[in-house]
Amino acid sequence: MERKWWKEAVVYQIYPKSFQDSNGDGIGDLNGIRSRLDYLKQLGIDVIWLSPVYQSPNDDNGYDISDYQEVMEELGTIKDFDNLLSEAHERGIKIVMDMVVNHTSDEHKWFVESRKSLDNPYRDYYIWREGKEGGACPNNWGSCFSGPAWEYDKDTGMYYLHLFSKKQPDLNWDNAAVRKEIFDMMDWWCRKGIDGFRMDVISMISKDESFPDGPVNGGLYGDYSPYAVHGPHIHEYLKEMNQKVLSRYDLMTVGETVGVTVEEARKYSGENERELDMVFQFEHVEGGGEIGKWTDKKPDILRLKRIMSKWQTGLEGCAWNSLFWDNHDQPRAVSRFGDDSSKYRKVSAKMLATCLHMMKGTPYIYQGQELGMTNFPFEDMSQFRDIESLNAYEELVGKGVVSHEKMMRYFRCKGRDNARTPMQWDDSANGGFTSGTPWLAVNPNYLEINAKAETADEDSVFHYYRKLINLRKHYDIIVSGRYELIMEEDSRVFAYVRRLGEEKLVVLCNFSDQEAEVSLPEEFRGEKGECLIHNYDRPWDQCKNKLLPYEAVAVIF
Ligand code: NOJ
Repeated sequence: MERKWWKEAVVYQIYPKSFQDSNGDGIGDLNGIRSRLDYLKQLGIDVIWLSPVYQSPNDDNGYDISDYQEVMEELGTIKDFDNLLSEAHERGIKIVMDMVVNHTSDEHKWFVESRKSLDNPYRDYYIWREGKEGGACPNNWGSCFSGPAWEYDKDTGMYYLHLFSKKQPDLNWDNAAVRKEIFDMMDWWCRKGIDGFRMDVISMISKDESFPDGPVNGGLYGDYSPYAVHGPHIHEYLKEMNQKVLSRYDLMTVGETVGVTVEEARKYSGENERELDMVFQFEHVEGGGEIGKWTDKKPDILRLKRIMSKWQTGLEGCAWNSLFWDNHDQPRAVSRFGDDSSKYRKVSAKMLATCLHMMKGTPYIYQGQELGMTNFPFEDMSQFRDIESLNAYEELVGKGVVSHEKMMRYFRCKGRDNARTPMQWDDSANGGFTSGTPWLAVNPNYLEINAKAETADEDSVFHYYRKLINLRKHYDIIVSGRYELIMEEDSRVFAYVRRLGEEKLVVLCNFSDQEAEVSLPEEFRGEKGECLIHNYDRPWDQCKNKLLPYEAVAVIF
């Protein structure tokens, strides 16, 4: 496969509102990020993925954009952005922008115009339909944030489509004028010198124009996915975007492709397809919900191994994986896949890091993951800011489907605000995030879990991540080796081998709080090997038979 800088890179995702506040208003900002570039340099990451910083009324924390060429007031100015970009570049760090173009904010000037009248030049920028006879929604689709996916607009007596909140109307990509506006705007950012795009729900931009009802799978609404995910013109539009914008710059592009299969991923990101460089698949962080996405159960490790391995082998030789455990929409990795008790937090956070960073693909670190930050002990609804959780509470608890206690358990396990609590920098008030009142409470465990303590402690999760990132720079097998799952049926040990020419890398990870037996393939049993990284302080060959709780080791032969 072709060598590309983004295959060798490690990406760090910043959720700007929660990273570092520089002016005491309780909201993280661009100057705050700039003040922490040396921290990121010390960690060793190559690329920042910046969650949206554009002008936005913040119905969905910036994923509802009202002006793509302005910066959100709370976060700073375009000048601050330019300074951030140039200071990042001075340190050899690239910046990838989050590009949200499935929808805009309803406060974007295009939508303000569009809703005015049927003959407004912007009318066809969005998806408008007549209601059914009797005035019901045009079809039965539900939105991702509860309720119907259609909103009635009384001024023109029609409905508009919003697959997310009603303040996030979907753009009409079938309109060539919309595509042109978007491509021109993306080009503007490229000319500024940014290094790529993470494309929000890009798999949803093309819809079946007949808008059929979707299957109702036990819920209140129909599922839009068969008609709005990987829709009829999706690959045509992405090829056009690639030709008109992406191919003209040296970028890294990653698509958030909800509902993607391996076959479909090969189309989006196959080396010869000229669409995107890689996609995010979500199979390993989805499924198992009791009601929609909601569950309070721990994930099944055997299932996790099968999914990760399917993607590793399924894209081998034709496309590139993006590797992640968490992001701003997911709970904290150590709470979900590891163990956030004081006994095992550190060791299990290191185990998860080993397991992910030694796989084939580009690893993504979500802010605070490198400290082993954990989920938040939510107790009541006043602690939430996330629209998904607020709406779900209203729909499920409000209508008596789920009890308050159960819903809180669901939120503590899977709510998006777990990942959005402010970054924990030190043990001063508010974890050093702000001198004001934080927009979302800081996790009370900041007194022990914080960047200052971890950078000072050689044995911390932070330094373990540093070491992992550094290994990637020195061992080509970590970037290029073929992946092969071993101990396939083991429900606690996730073990695999990477192979490159004569070289072999064995990775053993215990996903449980119990000791676990190991059975290595014959070819490694008598070999000495060189241990690259290990989260326990003991000779690695003791792992040949047994792993301690959450033990992880990577050994090269
Ligand atoms: C996916 C983003 O990651 C999420 O945070 C957002 O709410 C939706 N897309 C809508 O833009």
